[in-house]
Amino acid sequence: MTTTVRAGIVGANGFLGGELVRLLASHPFVQLTALVAGKSAGRRLSELRPALRGPGDGLLEAFDADVLSQRCDVVFLALPHGESAVAGRELVARGVRVIDLGSDFRIVDPAEHTRWYGKPPAAPELSAEAFYGLPELTGGAPATARVIANPGCFATALALTLAPLQPHLASGVDVTIFGVTGSSGSGIAPQDGTQHTLRVNNFVAYKPLKHQHMGELLQLLGQRGAVPGVRFVPHSLPAPRGIHLTLVLKASELDGDAQALYRAAYEGKPTVDVIEGAAAMGATLLSVRTLIGVQKVGSDVVITTAIDNLLKGGSGQAVQNLNLWYGWDETVGLPLVGAWP
Ligand SMILES: NC(=O)c1ccc[n+]([C@@H]2O[C@H](COP(=O)([O-])OP(=O)(O)OC[C@H]3O[C@@H](n4cnc5c(N)ncnc54)[C@H](OP(=O)(O)O)[C@@H]3O)[C@@H](O)[C@H]2O)c1
Repeated sequence: MTTTVRAGIVGANGFLGGELVRLLASHPFVQLTALVAGKSAGRRLSELRPALRGPGDGLLEAFDADVLSQRCDVVFLALPHGESAVAGRELVARGVRVIDLGSDFRIVDPAEHTRWYGKPPAAPELSAEAFYGLPELTGGAPATARVIANPGCFATALALTLAPLQPHLASGVDVTIFGVTGSSGSGIAPQDGTQHTLRVNNFVAYKPLKHQHMGELLQLLGQRGAVPGVRFVPHSLPAPRGIHLTLVLKASELDGDAQALYRAAYEGKPTVDVIEGAAAMGATLLSVRTLIGVQKVGSDVVITTAIDNLLKGGSGQAVQNLNLWYGWDETVGLPLVGAWP
């Protein structure tokens, strides 16, 4: 018999928090028992996010680890960088399981964390023990785990693109990946790079070769084998959600047929579709699906990968991690079919 798990969401009024509310409200084995916010505490979530009328009708509360430990078996943290370390430490100390959607616990080596985030991790002991959960590549967290670090959105798409190729790349081959992301990737507070007016008629590269998700990507690839040189150039897409990556290789740089390598890597994985052709980002929106397109063109291979940054790149993957952690089917409560247009 499956017991019901009591779940809280901290940062419930943010983009990922809102998606968690939407997903968990109809999850058959989860009861939402706490919605927590920062400066919005005291307001109704459904006032701020009308789409969440129903599950969001209650008042948003301020963070209180004692209260959460009484009401929740597991807490999702969907907080700005740096905030999860403190909240996570307080919750774990009280015996609450934590799934962090931010970046505080993703990188194990403090020096690497500092390299990519500009300052040392605030709770290095939790970063050291956290299970980095990208289910198609890592499987689910063991029942004994106390913290799951949910991967970053670009890191998810990059790792799912590179992992099947990694053992088959000729030695010395570097890969260059062109990526785009929708504006929701930067959270709900408008910034110069994300507000609609400044973004809608623009297209620009940012953080070329220096995106912070490279740290967790290199860590994961390093745990799997020899790491190729990876050059990643992200761009701001004038659309609210979605991630799309493009990688071009010479067929001779791979020992094997690219299509066959991807199909073998993701055979039986319900959340990954490998197709012959180009991956359309729209086909993944509002779903946890990863779509990987493989096209042989003359002596070259074009690989394209698409995900929804808020679902497979964030909240959907967090629920996938929850499902596996509790021994449920990986896809319970998750939309596998996209919604486009
Ligand atoms: N957006 C994406 O595509 C994406 C994908 C993967 C991972 N992530 C990561 O996931 C995290 C959340 O991202 P997001 O896009 O959902 O961010 P967001 O839209 O900016 O939401 C962050 C939320 O955290 C709340 N908050 C801030 N300080 C708080 C505190 N001390 N106590 C309680 N709540 C607090 C804010 O509530 P108030 O407004 O009430 O202060 C806000 O609603 C970030 O670390 C981000 O890097 C984002």
